[in-house]
Amino acid sequence: MAECGIHTDKAAVFLKEGQLVAIPTETVYGLAANALNEKAVLSIFEAKNRPQFDPLIVHVANLSAVDQYAVWDDQRLKQLAARFWPGPLTILLPKKSKVPDIVTSGLSRVALRVPDHPLTLQLLNMIDFPLAAPSANPFGYVSPTKPEHVQMQLGDKVSYILDGGTCGVGIESTIVGIEDGEVCVYRLGGLSIEEIEACTGKVSIRLNVSSNPAAPGQLKNHYAPRKPLYIGNAEELALKFSDRKIVALVFGSSELKLRNGVVKNLSPRGSDKEAAVNLFSFLREADASDAEVIIAQFIPESGLGAAINDRLKRASVRD
Ligand code: TXA
Ligand code: MG
Repeated sequence: MAECGIHTDKAAVFLKEGQLVAIPTETVYGLAANALNEKAVLSIFEAKNRPQFDPLIVHVANLSAVDQYAVWDDQRLKQLAARFWPGPLTILLPKKSKVPDIVTSGLSRVALRVPDHPLTLQLLNMIDFPLAAPSANPFGYVSPTKPEHVQMQLGDKVSYILDGGTCGVGIESTIVGIEDGEVCVYRLGGLSIEEIEACTGKVSIRLNVSSNPAAPGQLKNHYAPRKPLYIGNAEELALKFSDRKIVALVFGSSELKLRNGVVKNLSPRGSDKEAAVNLFSFLREADASDAEVIIAQFIPESGLGAAINDRLKRASVRD
């Protein structure tokens, strides 16, 4: 068990010593280490069992800290940062040599983000290095949105869990960068496409669904519970699996009833934001329950719906 508390000064000491600390952000909990300390960064990959071809996001205290680590290659990206930081937006920029190659898996761009959580911002302001932090879950599993999630899976790997309560957004950051002169979205996330486009105009969405290491991140099967998750029409799936114990994730006005299982509504009032907050903790609860299968239905694509559906797809059983 790791010590868990709200003491940023304690967290800062561990990080200065090169140790791992779990940090709260508005999206999900991160598994943080000093991004400039190669050995500490290596221990992130080891703790998560994460392949080194999957690069890490670097968290900084504010927009002006970016210049030490990267080059603003496009004004549109800087505008996005000015508008949405601190917030659930990660920006890929050409990296400066100060950022160790292990952080970016040898790629020429570094992913940067100012997280919107008071404790983590306070912590970032106490230390003189940025924090490399992937989501604080074993590689491929559902991201943690509560300190208990981190404690359960990585409690023996971190020196401290900075307890910031339940994450307010609940789904990982949206990742953007420039490619062929266009603003590209590489991962759907906690900042909606609509909000980004209101700032930059039309963006190009290039989600990678391959398992090709040359296309980092967006691996085909990710964010997955251990129990099989099927997506489709909830009524039909409930019938199909009527001989099994089910957890069903529904949304809005659904009136699904199960003979043998539990129905969990991501947002009875049909809010995409509320559904995002609940998604990962519901998946974890379903996984920990005695259910044999999890069934879910896509939610409307607008706002955070697109990112939620993306996570459901990646978590699901597919051919
Ligand atoms: O909301 C979030 O982004 C959370 C919190 C902790 O900040 N972090 C997070 O990190 O989701 P992680 O490691 O689970 O996902 C980061 C993804 C990578 O899988 C990869 O797709 C992309 O960010 N990424 C990071 N650095 C990159 C780079 N240099 N080039 C391309 N993609 C990069
Ligand atoms: Mg992750």
